[in-house]
Amino acid sequence: MKGQADTVGNMADDFRSTFAETRILVTGGAGFLGSWLCEVLAACGATVHCLDNFSTGQIQNVSSFRKAIQITRADVTTARLPGGYNYIFHMSSRASPEEYQIHPIETLRANSEGTVRMLELARKSDAVVVYASTSEVYGNAAVVPTPESYYGYVSSVGIRSCYDEGKRFGEAVCMAYFRQHGVHVRIPRIFNSYGPRIRSDGIYARVVPRFILQAIRNEPLTIQGSGTQTRSFCYVTDTVRGLMLVASPRGKDGETFNIGSPDEITIARLAEKVKGISRSKSGIKHVEAREDDPRRRCPDLSRTRKLGWRPRTSLDEGLASTIFYFRRAYGA
Ligand SMILES: NC(=O)c1ccc[n+]([C@@H]2O[C@H](COP(=O)([O-])OP(=O)(O)OC[C@H]3O[C@@H](n4cnc5c(N)ncnc54)[C@H](O)[C@@H]3O)[C@@H](O)[C@H]2O)c1
Repeated sequence: MKGQADTVGNMADDFRSTFAETRILVTGGAGFLGSWLCEVLAACGATVHCLDNFSTGQIQNVSSFRKAIQITRADVTTARLPGGYNYIFHMSSRASPEEYQIHPIETLRANSEGTVRMLELARKSDAVVVYASTSEVYGNAAVVPTPESYYGYVSSVGIRSCYDEGKRFGEAVCMAYFRQHGVHVRIPRIFNSYGPRIRSDGIYARVVPRFILQAIRNEPLTIQGSGTQTRSFCYVTDTVRGLMLVASPRGKDGETFNIGSPDEITIARLAEKVKGISRSKSGIKHVEAREDDPRRRCPDLSRTRKLGWRPRTSLDEGLASTIFYFRRAYGA
């Protein structure tokens, strides 16, 4: 639909002039998005320091390029870090709903204490900080497609509040450091992303990898609730390109940017798509809806488009390459 999916090589070519010979910290660098960031930034010629406590991250995500980066196994709330960074991508947080609901305190701490620590570090070295926020700050949005100006409809005590409010605090403290100390904060609000390296096992699995694994095993695809709820799914290289653009001189300090696909799809339709593309014999099984699950989610991209960003990979292409990756990983 929209052109060719990015590769590590062509993204590195596009961003080398910005990131070559810089020092970059990626917290959560062994995770899904963080590992892609580390790989592309290292290919740009940056000195990349990956910090991860491996709570959800996996060493195999970084194994193909681990000699090109420095890896520290530590928690973002306690790690001793050398400083002197030009860029800090603060990506470390549990991100899968089932998982963060089991670890609400760690999730809140990574986004509160962890973010404050990264901002202090950035303040000392005059670094640009990219804080990985989320569409979940909008909660059950009444305005869809949702612009950055939407304040959010979020429960501070609900089951998802550890994540939503953790991210909202993270954004607020970023803005406080921007206003009070002039720290160069950039706040991408990431909508659902998927692609190779996303975890598919147990409580870590978000909807796309869960459907794919079920489909390639010919097990029923489990839809939570009616399946009429919508999401918009962005392929990983598009998300990573967006994060790098936000960090680049095109981004702006003290600004939020939606990063996500504008193509809204129901979860039921997504299940059909995954079945079709993987040629699966799976059926569909409806299970209990998740508490406080937002009804619709789709970004208004007016602001991010001004950075020159648009998703390049269609859902069909992205699903096909993710299914290919999972078949290889699981030998199915
Ligand atoms: N992938 C998405 O669709 C999406 C959407 C919105 C926001 N985000 C945000 O992007 C970031 C990365 O998400 P992801 O999808 O790559 O998830 P992920 O779980 O694959 O990666 C998160 C990484 O952070 C690490 N981590 C967690 N807590 C930590 C801590 N206290 N100290 C050090 N490391 C810690 C984990 O081990 C993991 O490697 C998260 O902040 C998430 O909230 C992701």
